[in-house]
Amino acid sequence: MKLVFVGLGKMGRSILKGALERGFLRPEEVGVLGRTPERGRELAEAFGVRPLTRADLGMAERVLIAVQPRDFPALAPEIAHHRLGYISIMAGISTSVLARRLDNRRVVRAMPNLAVVIGESSTALTALREAREAGDLAFARALFATVGDVYEIPEHLFDAFTGMSASAPAYLAVVAEALADAGVKMGMPRALALRLAADALAATGELLKGRHPAQVKDEVASPGAPPSTASTPSRPGRCGRPFTRRWRRPPRGGTSSASRSDPTPCGLAPAWGPR
Ligand SMILES: NC(=O)c1ccc[n+]([C@@H]2O[C@H](COP(=O)([O-])OP(=O)(O)OC[C@H]3O[C@@H](n4cnc5c(N)ncnc54)[C@H](OP(=O)(O)O)[C@@H]3O)[C@@H](O)[C@H]2O)c1
Repeated sequence: MKLVFVGLGKMGRSILKGALERGFLRPEEVGVLGRTPERGRELAEAFGVRPLTRADLGMAERVLIAVQPRDFPALAPEIAHHRLGYISIMAGISTSVLARRLDNRRVVRAMPNLAVVIGESSTALTALREAREAGDLAFARALFATVGDVYEIPEHLFDAFTGMSASAPAYLAVVAEALADAGVKMGMPRALALRLAADALAATGELLKGRHPAQVKDEVASPGAPPSTASTPSRPGRCGRPFTRRWRRPPRGGTSSASRSDPTPCGLAPAWGPR
């Protein structure tokens, strides 16, 4: 068995789907290990792959770990095996921690983003020497190429990659929601505003592949015309400043400067978390 998935949540199932659809893996080459044997059978049936127990792990070549980082300490001793290779997509868990907890230096650290769902992820990879020599890094490169672009980067850049590329869908979704909210505020039906915001983000992404961001901004913002005349990020909490609503931590015993009991001027939810 070529690959065992441990964790078939949002990320794991999309990587599995990409690998099967692109023919990189066949269903009979894939196993799944659930939290419990029943959960494993349920997931295996849902995805047409083989259910495995911990005792079966030795028959696999590699394991993809796609559980939440908080679940890893308890999971590690249960899946540790000296003759397997491991690929982890867990945020913030370094190759040295993986190797120590799994008692195995064949570890690859990967960082995809939510765009695996549509096969458009940017995935960073790094690996310990033992994983490179055993072909685990090459395997991971081919696996993640089924769901987007792959970048090999040094491990010291992983936190930056996680904060920027892996988190980017969340940041840009906030921008899209703010754009749509602005459209709704000006009278547009919400469904149309959301569709237009999504289209604008996707089209801008394409434009940015061949242009510097400043060029795109300047080509839209003619002097004296929108968006150069649109709101600027200066005065928190005012209508027309949906990108920059600030959400201040309330003073001890006090209320937030923009709490729920303090209706936002535009009826907009605050876009950003506490500062
Ligand atoms: N979401 C993102 O945008 C993103 C981006 C980059 C990296 N990541 C990383 O990817 C990992 C998975 O994220 P996710 O968003 O896919 O999380 P998720 O949707 O919460 O999925 C995690 C899955 O792990 C399973 N699981 C937990 N403990 C298990 C165990 N002991 N044995 C077997 N399966 C177990 C859960 O199974 P049940 O279904 O049975 O509860 C759940 O389906 C995380 O480590 C995260 O840091 C996420």
